[in-house]
Amino acid sequence: MRLRQLPCPRPDPAALILALLAALAAGKAAGEPPAAPVIGRAEFVDRRDPPARRVLGAAPRQTFDLGLLVFNTPWVAAGTPNAGRRDGLGPLFVSASCDACHNNGARGRAPARADGLSNSFVMQLEGAAPIYGAVLNPAAVPDHNAEGQIEVSWTALQGQYADGTRWTLRQPQYALRKLIYGPPPPDAVLRPRIAPPLFGAGLLESVPRKALRDIRRHQAASMRGELPAGSFGWQAEARDIEDQTTRAFAREIGVTSRLRLADDCSPTQVACRNAPNGGTPEVSDEFLDAVVTFQRELAVPARSTLPPGEEAAGSRLFADTGCAACHVSRLPAGTASGPGMIDPYTDLLLHDLGPLLADRTQSGRSVASRWRTAPLWGLAHALKNEAVALLHDGRAASLEEAILWHGGQAEAARRAFLAMPAEQRQLLLQWMGSL
Ligand code: HEC
Ligand code: HEC
Repeated sequence: MRLRQLPCPRPDPAALILALLAALAAGKAAGEPPAAPVIGRAEFVDRRDPPARRVLGAAPRQTFDLGLLVFNTPWVAAGTPNAGRRDGLGPLFVSASCDACHNNGARGRAPARADGLSNSFVMQLEGAAPIYGAVLNPAAVPDHNAEGQIEVSWTALQGQYADGTRWTLRQPQYALRKLIYGPPPPDAVLRPRIAPPLFGAGLLESVPRKALRDIRRHQAASMRGELPAGSFGWQAEARDIEDQTTRAFAREIGVTSRLRLADDCSPTQVACRNAPNGGTPEVSDEFLDAVVTFQRELAVPARSTLPPGEEAAGSRLFADTGCAACHVSRLPAGTASGPGMIDPYTDLLLHDLGPLLADRTQSGRSVASRWRTAPLWGLAHALKNEAVALLHDGRAASLEEAILWHGGQAEAARRAFLAMPAEQRQLLLQWMGSL
């Protein structure tokens, strides 16, 4: 085949120099590779069938699909006839499947129950391990007793914006009721938590720690975060996705896996420890690996698009208000298919957001608490169909409430938000709702 000769334009030296100057002005030296593209987002056509973040080959695709099945599977009590490989629930548990709390990978639901709590809610306990273990189990299989129940009551907290508009927040107070072994020690810490979204977990897992150290070094001293020991959970305590998954299996569902060969039964809970099991371990390696792969490959829902003017103005407000110092828009991710940039809006560092958000002891004393900056990607998806429950215990029912709860290292950002006129607040909220 004969190639058609294309007319080749002669390079114009003046144009070349102008282009070079423009590149230098943009902070790029000539010859520098173009910025890596933003990866990880995909259109969620059907919420019940969340997509992978990249095209998968046949074998990994099968593992991904199996992982979603395991994620959705409700576990049943050991010895249930025809249970297949999904028996071993409890004997004490919070919910029977991953999906019950993280619906198809999404964040926990807003409270809809008569007791004012969400189905996706977990009360972790610190300092109560000899009696109740790491979480309070409000459910049990037949012939076993639930450990107790959680009660929440709300008090109103009011204030106003600089322009005079009033706002109200609801502050939760938690108490443990119907405790079958009596109250834990007064200084035991109640750690209320709601299920976070799992979208993009594999990409967050792949961010090099060096990048986080660099961010930290450039943060103003008043806002400087701490590099956590782990990566996952509201306080970044779990090492990686597999670690968090096996914790959830053991504590929230009561099934054992190769990394955690015991349920959340404390030394004094003899009946719990001696209950028949559904195999050793109860979750097969094949199921565990599949559910981990599913989470590693899970995409982040695509952003919704705003008119270019609003996009630019919204992201400028977000930066000018100081939000972007912690909710960092771009992080490098190292994935099997090479490095890429992600847009999670987090620094993955721990920050103190003040006593109002801190955990409290049984006796009501607030204990210094540091939280991983919550990634804001996927908010458009979260806000689309349902009422939301934001922050670590789901107390905020809107973006506006979530911002108003910020204090401590984010106090200056909160004040800047309070000082904004109404139209700017609306613009910022609208922009965040598109992430
Ligand atoms: C009863 C509700 C509940 C169940 C069931 C549950 N989770 Fe969670 N999940 C949570 C809560 C609450 C957290 C936050 C934990 C923390 O902050 O320490 C969480 C955190 C996570 C995280 C960390 C996400 C992040 O970005 O920090 C992952 C991953 C996860 N869960 C996976 C799973 C898997 C897989 C299962 C099933 C094996 C599961 N979860 C079952 C409530 C639940
Ligand atoms: C000092 C760091 C810091 C600054 C500054 C900051 N945030 Fe946050 N943000 C956090 C942390 C940490 C959390 C998680 C707190 C929790 O769950 O209790 C959070 C949570 C949130 C959430 C809830 C997300 C979720 O998934 O529940 C929203 C929304 C949010 N921030 C928006 C903002 C906005 C808007 C600003 C600017 C006005 C801002 N933040 C400034 C650290 C910061």
